[in-house]
Amino acid sequence: MSYNLLKGKKGIIFGALDEQSIAWNVAVKAFEEGAVFTLSNTPLALRFGNLRDLSAQCNAEIIPADATSVSDLEQVISRSMEVLGGKVDFILHSIGMSLNVRKSREYDDLDYDFYRKTIDISAMSFHKMIQVAKKLDAISEWGSIVALSYIAAQRTLYRYNDMADAKAMLESIARSFGYIYGREKNVRINTISQSPTRTTAGSGVKGIDALIDFTERMSPLGNATARECADFCIVLFSDLSRKVTMQNIFHDGGFSSMGMSLKAMTQYKKSLEDE
Ligand SMILES: NC(=O)c1ccc[n+]([C@@H]2O[C@H](COP(=O)([O-])OP(=O)(O)OC[C@H]3O[C@@H](n4cnc5c(N)ncnc54)[C@H](O)[C@@H]3O)[C@@H](O)[C@H]2O)c1
Repeated sequence: MSYNLLKGKKGIIFGALDEQSIAWNVAVKAFEEGAVFTLSNTPLALRFGNLRDLSAQCNAEIIPADATSVSDLEQVISRSMEVLGGKVDFILHSIGMSLNVRKSREYDDLDYDFYRKTIDISAMSFHKMIQVAKKLDAISEWGSIVALSYIAAQRTLYRYNDMADAKAMLESIARSFGYIYGREKNVRINTISQSPTRTTAGSGVKGIDALIDFTERMSPLGNATARECADFCIVLFSDLSRKVTMQNIFHDGGFSSMGMSLKAMTQYKKSLEDE
């Protein structure tokens, strides 16, 4: 069902790779809700993903960019204003990657070049994106910028590794820049802390299946899907959330407020009996 929540709004969506991607789901939903937007991802992702299908489905131009490159970001943002005919109303940062996670380098044996890349790709790119947009005066008053985070920013979760540090920084950037951009231009900046989700990035975390099972049992409403996450992004892009800024909002079925649930306790007891 469509509510026309983004009718007349323009945006840029970073990070759609395939149908599982959170950004892909956001693009489909934003299109249904009446938005026009551009899509961006790395040249490598364009080769391996199926972004062209999404581009055709949503009538959205693809502008390739490495989000760690300021000049690439300048190109994406200026070209988007050209294609869309003016300033944008929303930007989605749905980007994350850790070579330490990919190459199974544990947190007490990190490769520091990989660590720098994790921070640059997964957190600093958010700052770069916002700074470029602000310098180009590319976002309309009351515009909305959203990035995707994970609860490992606040709590330690086995194997989330250096991505936890990147997410903590990402959430901090939303607060620090949210103050400045809000004060000067009424632009809102928030992060959504999403349940574990089976996507390419999500599956990079070894043991994701066990984690998804655990959080499902722990969350009174169950895990939030990528599609549900997309719904929530649309609300944050819409005029219905105009005074929400500098927040990290948990979109996790209640997981973040739980300590132990009946379902998790039942499973835990079973595993003790099996010992
Ligand atoms: N899947 C989960 O369990 C989960 C949970 C909470 C938060 N998140 C976050 O959601 C966001 C989207 O991830 P997803 O789960 O949809 O997976 P995904 O793999 O579909 O998306 C990650 C995207 O990041 C892009 N990317 C990587 N390096 C880049 C670079 N240098 N420049 C530009 N783009 C780059 C990839 O090409 C890909 O499109 C990430 O920030 C992720 O950390 C995911």
